[in-house]
Amino acid sequence: MSGERVIVRQESIVILNFGGQYTQLIARRVRQAHVFSHVLPYYATSAEIRALSPKGIILSGGPASVLDADAPRCDAGIFRLGVPVLGICYGMQLMAYMLGGQVAPADKREYGLVSVCLQTTHSLFTDADPENPCWMSHTYQVVKLPGGFAGIAATDTCPIAAMADDVRHFYGVQFHPEVTHTRNGMTMISHFLTDICGCACDWEMSGYAERQIAAIREAVGKDTVLLGLSGGVDSAVAAALLSKAIGPQLTCVFVDHGFLRKGEFAQVRDVFTTTFQTRLVAVDARKRFMDALAGVSDPERKRKIIGREFVEVFKEESAKLGKLDHFAQGTIYPDVIESGGAVGSQVIKSHHNVGGLPAELGFTSLIEPLRMLFKDEVRALGVTLGLPESLVWRQPFPGPGLAIRVIGDLTEEKVGIVRESDAILREEIANAGLDREISQYFTVLTGTRSVGVMGDERTYDYAVAIRAVTTDDFMTADWARIPYDTLARISSRIVNEVHHVNRVLLDVTTKPPASIEWE
Ligand code: XMP
Repeated sequence: MSGERVIVRQESIVILNFGGQYTQLIARRVRQAHVFSHVLPYYATSAEIRALSPKGIILSGGPASVLDADAPRCDAGIFRLGVPVLGICYGMQLMAYMLGGQVAPADKREYGLVSVCLQTTHSLFTDADPENPCWMSHTYQVVKLPGGFAGIAATDTCPIAAMADDVRHFYGVQFHPEVTHTRNGMTMISHFLTDICGCACDWEMSGYAERQIAAIREAVGKDTVLLGLSGGVDSAVAAALLSKAIGPQLTCVFVDHGFLRKGEFAQVRDVFTTTFQTRLVAVDARKRFMDALAGVSDPERKRKIIGREFVEVFKEESAKLGKLDHFAQGTIYPDVIESGGAVGSQVIKSHHNVGGLPAELGFTSLIEPLRMLFKDEVRALGVTLGLPESLVWRQPFPGPGLAIRVIGDLTEEKVGIVRESDAILREEIANAGLDREISQYFTVLTGTRSVGVMGDERTYDYAVAIRAVTTDDFMTADWARIPYDTLARISSRIVNEVHHVNRVLLDVTTKPPASIEWE
């Protein structure tokens, strides 16, 4: 099946990725302004970019110096496409350098919030403050403007902190408007999109859902599709979308490995048999997984065994279903960007390098209906499609589930303790109204047992730890400051309601050095 059968057309901005830590943030900000954005690798050709007919191009920041011989450069042809270009940080320096200006090391590195003097008569900065705090992170700067440009901002140490060529519509900012610390940053991005690129800003999730449903119908035709429900948000939203599009041609397989959170298996099963009437194969494989893990305490071995058994169960179930045409999965945009980016938004891709489960099952074509969406957009789409908020707003949950939240070897009793204490934690965090503020929170059954008293009796029971973190990207994280009263309620409920727990601990470690999970 061709990978290019269905291309969804809409007003868009192309962001060329020079490896900056904020590239995805730029793309999200553009979408927040209701303009669709594509992130492409910096070496995308001007022909590839032209094929997308973008209303504008943004050059991202990046760690390199434009003066290095091997510095990443974009195709010079993009400056001849006749569309506005905005360079941010490295992107501004690259634009200046490629168009005949000069870049040099700054006398003083600027990092953090810096007061920038903006020319507010310029359309990019209308509505900003003349002395506007902006987020900076640079050691090089533009020291000579290319022909046709004028400086439109400055700091104490950076005389050209922004530049503009209003004839060709090329712009550069040394600071990061996409970072929330930059006051009026989102307004600057909006001005670029509307006043400069002429965007209508009409990209909405409901319209997106309708277009995707139409595109899936056209691409799939009368074919059949298999999708593995993991219990996570992404696969559930992908299933909902496919179910709306192709109804009975979709079959979902949902394996209960025994390590899902309390009530999760039933919730997902019910949603996909009542709200969405899919052909659902729900497999109770709990005993099989527990048997395979008997006596295993090494975290990586646990993960491997669970992964292996999962593939085996999935293979057996799909063999019973007979040959289906396509495999669907809930890949989302950050995965696509990290694996090198993709041009276009094709609904079905023929993969020569289908990895993991689809390949094991003999599939060569993949349907990835969420591959152009960020996580918050996946959630918005889920709600638009009618999935319950409680399912859509669930926190991330690792594939091996509760098995890696019991330290050491597993027993039914230990998994039961972590499941019950986790349910109490989730309930109390929701009661305290903190469930959308804390990025991830769960309990861990530590391997430690300690002495306690209950009634008049001495106990020797388990210690449960509470892990709760705030993070944007899960690469670094801070421990969440849960109010003491909420902690007191959680602790009291866990020791009273969960058998064999007599102590509750709070994990107050950042990542790094700790990871979020304990195993
Ligand atoms: P760590 O523990 O590495 O976790 O700081 C970062 C994020 O990844 C999740 N995580 C996993 N997800 N399979 C998954 O699907 C895994 O084996 C796994 N281990 C960690 C973790 O929950 C957190 O959100």
